[in-house]
Amino acid sequence: MITYLVTGGAGFIGSNFIHYMFEKYGDDIRIINVDALTYAGNPENLKSVAGRENYSFIKADIRNSDEINKIFAENDIDRVVHFAAESHVDRSIKNPGIFVETNVLGTCVMLNAARAAWENEDGSYKEGKKFLHVSTDEVYGSLSDPKDYFYETTPYSPHSPYSASKASSDMLVKSYVDTYHFPANITNCSNNYGPYQFPEKLIPLMINNALTGKKMPVYGDGKNVRDWLYVADHCKGIDMVINKGRMGETYNIGGHNEKQNIDIVNIIIDTLLEILPEDDERRKNVSKELITYVEDRKGHDRRYAIAPDKIKSELGWEPDTKFEDGIKKTIKWYLENEEWFKNVTSGDYLKYYEKMYKV
Ligand code: NAD
Ligand code: TYD
Repeated sequence: MITYLVTGGAGFIGSNFIHYMFEKYGDDIRIINVDALTYAGNPENLKSVAGRENYSFIKADIRNSDEINKIFAENDIDRVVHFAAESHVDRSIKNPGIFVETNVLGTCVMLNAARAAWENEDGSYKEGKKFLHVSTDEVYGSLSDPKDYFYETTPYSPHSPYSASKASSDMLVKSYVDTYHFPANITNCSNNYGPYQFPEKLIPLMINNALTGKKMPVYGDGKNVRDWLYVADHCKGIDMVINKGRMGETYNIGGHNEKQNIDIVNIIIDTLLEILPEDDERRKNVSKELITYVEDRKGHDRRYAIAPDKIKSELGWEPDTKFEDGIKKTIKWYLENEEWFKNVTSGDYLKYYEKMYKV
């Protein structure tokens, strides 16, 4: 039985990955979820798997090498899927230090712990071990020519403290591959959307604001382009790379679904009006009048777009969910999980929101 150590499994993509893996492999795998439960980590995301015998949760901080080494000493880990990170660009602009600590130093702690547990005395590694570092397309910077795409060979050019910290952690992983022949892969994925995403990110923030009648803050001219991928398709790619990817390789993941931010906001409003029943109280709040252009994000990247050719040709990856279906599924999930929304948008979130959007 393969044992996965998932870091950051209580966050958005990590929790979707855990659900994806149990749906696919059932009792044939074991998953240990290691998460510090920062503001972005939410055990509620994993309620339905919490009772499984082949699932366990350990509250630990990836910056703490004693805690992480102990987990490796007590468990025979076969695969590490490393999601844990500070992940929000706006927060990184306000407080870059924590991004360096978690994303760079935390990744170093994870690499050292895995290497110490997996390396044989002759420098080879125990059979079947693999570390997958989950990263982002933002490390490549911003595209200006509309015909350009991010390839695995595109030079790194990060602009925000978030993307700079992710780029640094990617470099560290690459250096372990080159220096120690460490068994790792890196995936660089485009923007994800789907259930359990924290409403500081564009799509859930806009859904929440529309439903509660709050202004929908569009940065700058609203024409920045992101390449949106349904989260389950990202999870499918991660599963393929960790189990079939060539050792040491990087794979870009994205579904060729580029959209301007303002189009996303309009689609959300139109979809809410299409789905919400006439007598649903929340419907009366939803209106295009909520759209408000606000000051642009500092250093705002103009366009991201992934070329997924390598993962498609080498591993046969294809996205399963078209954007029109994925966004409907996502909006329905948020409508049906109002309690989840209410829980995550109380307390600290309100303080963050007021400070960030000055309301
Ligand atoms: P998220 O912010 O929703 O979740 C991050 C998780 O990491 C949380 O559960 C948090 O508690 C945990 N965490 C943070 N600091 C920790 C620490 N010091 N020790 C242990 N756990 C800690 O993030 P996400 O959107 O799910 O992103 C997951 C990963 O995927 C990140 O590495 C991110 O860079 C990458 N990524 C995200 C996207 C996207 O669109 N969201 C796209 C590409 C890549
Ligand atoms: P976000 O979800 O923060 O992802 P990222 O910055 O990692 O791509 O933002 C997606 C896009 O939406 C980005 O161009 C910034 C923009 N945006 C807004 O216009 N308003 C908002 O309130 C937020 C959170 C983002």
